[in-house]
Amino acid sequence: MTASVAPRGQVRALGPADTDRYCNHLARLDPAARRMRFFADVSDFHVLFHAGAALSDGRAVVGYVEDDEIRGACELLETDRADHGAEAAFSVESDWRCQGIGGLLMAAMIADARRRGVLRIEMQCLKSNAPMQALAARFTSDLRQIGDTTLAVLDNSPAIPAA
Ligand SMILES: CC(C)(COP(=O)(O)OP(=O)(O)OC[C@H]1O[C@@H](n2cnc3c(N)ncnc32)[C@H](O)[C@@H]1OP(=O)(O)O)[C@@H](O)C(=O)NCCC(=O)NCCS
Repeated sequence: MTASVAPRGQVRALGPADTDRYCNHLARLDPAARRMRFFADVSDFHVLFHAGAALSDGRAVVGYVEDDEIRGACELLETDRADHGAEAAFSVESDWRCQGIGGLLMAAMIADARRRGVLRIEMQCLKSNAPMQALAARFTSDLRQIGDTTLAVLDNSPAIPAA
């Protein structure tokens, strides 16, 4: 159950100037969280390389920043330009979980995706990743079980105005 105390940090877009902070955030994820986030056991070098690339290759990255440290983030990577599709991936440090930060990042990412014309957002996680599925289920009812993974699909097309 998500805590009722509102997080005191802020969610904002991250850019190249945040590379060190973002790298530190990803490096603080414990091995289990790294596995959930990257679907593999990744090295510190991989994390460092990933942080630099993610903040400079044009993808949208939003971060939860508290006391000048990034404690949570969501990346939105366009995967299918023709179909306006993108994939989102989340990370929140363990001591900051279950406070609604994942939900704040999701809402900011959805707004950003809409500004970029992204109409379909996919979120993939391991079937055993109950927190990610609970987070996704607050925003979409389209959760598909595919082998060892769960795919959440969020229709991000603008709401059809009422007649
Ligand atoms: C998934 C993740 C981003 C969620 O972040 P968060 O800030 O805790 O998200 P929220 O607080 O908004 O919501 C967490 C939800 O998980 C639920 N949850 C937490 N632990 C749970 C568990 N063991 N079983 C079931 N649900 C659980 C909470 O109850 C909450 O759901 P609710 O609001 O419906 O009650 C975070 O756990 C994380 O970074 N995990 C490691 C990386 C990862 O798994 N990334 C996803 C793949 S890209």
